[in-house]
Amino acid sequence: MNHSIYFFCFLFLVFSNGLNAASQEGAFSSKGMIVSRSSLASDAGLEIMRQGGNAVDAAVATAFALAVTYPSAGNLGGGGFALVRLPNGRIFSLDHRETAPNASHRDMYLDEEGEPNKHLSRSSALSAGVPGTVDGLLTLLDRFGTMPREKVILPAIRLARDGFPVDFFLSRHIKRYGKKLKDYESSKKKFLRDGAPLSEGDLWIQPDLAKTLLSIAENGRDGFYEGKVAKLIVAEIRARGGIITLKDLKSYSSVWRDPIGIDYRGNRIWTMGPPSSGLLILQMLNMMEPFDLQKLGWGNSKLIHLMIEAEKRAYADRAEYLGDPDFFDVPLEILTSKKYAKKRFQGFEWDRLSESEQISHGEIKNRESRETTHFSVMGSDGMAVSLTTTLNSPYGNKIVVSGAGFLLNNEMDDFSIKSNVMNQFNLIGREANSIEPNKRMLSSMSPTIIVKDDLPILVTGSPGGSTIITTVLQVIINFLDHKMPLQDAVGFPRFHHQWKPDTILYERGAFSPDTRENLERLGYKAFRAWTFGGGIGDANSISFDGSLIQGVKDPRASGGTVGL
Ligand code: DON
Repeated sequence: MNHSIYFFCFLFLVFSNGLNAASQEGAFSSKGMIVSRSSLASDAGLEIMRQGGNAVDAAVATAFALAVTYPSAGNLGGGGFALVRLPNGRIFSLDHRETAPNASHRDMYLDEEGEPNKHLSRSSALSAGVPGTVDGLLTLLDRFGTMPREKVILPAIRLARDGFPVDFFLSRHIKRYGKKLKDYESSKKKFLRDGAPLSEGDLWIQPDLAKTLLSIAENGRDGFYEGKVAKLIVAEIRARGGIITLKDLKSYSSVWRDPIGIDYRGNRIWTMGPPSSGLLILQMLNMMEPFDLQKLGWGNSKLIHLMIEAEKRAYADRAEYLGDPDFFDVPLEILTSKKYAKKRFQGFEWDRLSESEQISHGEIKNRESRETTHFSVMGSDGMAVSLTTTLNSPYGNKIVVSGAGFLLNNEMDDFSIKSNVMNQFNLIGREANSIEPNKRMLSSMSPTIIVKDDLPILVTGSPGGSTIITTVLQVIINFLDHKMPLQDAVGFPRFHHQWKPDTILYERGAFSPDTRENLERLGYKAFRAWTFGGGIGDANSISFDGSLIQGVKDPRASGGTVGL
């Protein structure tokens, strides 16, 4: 069986390399590393490191550059989460997720019959949450950076003002979404030339975006949340029936939250707490810790069954208990405890699968209370940044703010727009994630840092909507349990189950024929091959062994791994 697994993996890697330009082994350095979805954005971070910047300076430069070079997910008009580890070992997390506008309300996406209007929540001006990225990046820089913002934003300004050649991947992506981007004059102006999507080799100059970046460089957050840019945002949104106001923008603020962590086989796993779903990764690791995953072996049907059973339980809990902790009392301590995991996994049987319909959320009594992008950065001093950011769908709601040159998000669809109604990632939710003014919508983005013996041994995270959580889980298990080198931990084929729908999503090579047979014999019926893009997730990761930093670009998509 092992042979067939490796053959499948080999095929997978060959095919994915054929599709994408990423190198398999990544880059090595002892001084610093940046791994992102765009080589130009990674270079922006490298430039800042070369000037003496630390990992946070480099991360902020990379993030601003991603807004220019990878516009489907890199953004000024979206939001994200960042995990930062300082050289002294302290870990911080910054929530710069979008918020619901003040005029939003629970039923705002329901029609007169009470039925959800998915166009409104996904692709209208009403789908935009109040952007958090700019405040988040500047807050990170203020607290942990060492360089002035003008310097750190400069590479992004240059890329927007002077332009850069559109590569094959970007032009293919813009072509794929070109039809939708044609709906708005401002989006047409940004992404099309003479009515046709930008082509490979075109020099792409974005003067409006350059002006917005300059305004942020000169005036800080006021250069975005107040003044001319803020007025342009509100004018665009208002003209298209949205509800974000100048006051919403002015009062947006990112939030430092306690990162959440557990011990797992002698490692400390740190990830983002709610309104992210990093919690599920911890829950699933807790459920699986009593089992010897390495002995079961990668690709083994028993291990896959074990993981899926953990996934079903964790995603069912997500629907009931996860939401913005400022609005809903998330039972964090219980959900991350070993005791709860043990109880929740009691019904697990090796030879029987639980029907998703039968799995509900765990009982907690008397409690006291695609498109996203991930990049990882590390400096030689052990400072590390794990940052995931998004507009939600590719190119968000497809609306470019006229005169300001950036896209707006459609993050409101991450709320539960109606109890038990699936969002675009087929995730359901209830009260915990209902819409309320100024509340943050629940996210799956889970930037993660793993520490062992005071060393940040792994920095990881991924895009992929609901599959983010299981992608990060698999990278962790591959790295820690199967002891794979980073390029394999990231590159090996993945699968995904999210409780509902009761379907196993898998990449080519994830299951050998006999593994598939074993799973079918166990009762798994619904399998769906992942056929879109490079694969499930894009886990741009970094490992560190105390002297050598290794960066690995996920082979599923192009991008840049650069070492200092
Ligand atoms: O925050 C979330 O969970 C979603 N808005 C993420 C969207 C996403 O990952 C799409 N991309 N691949």
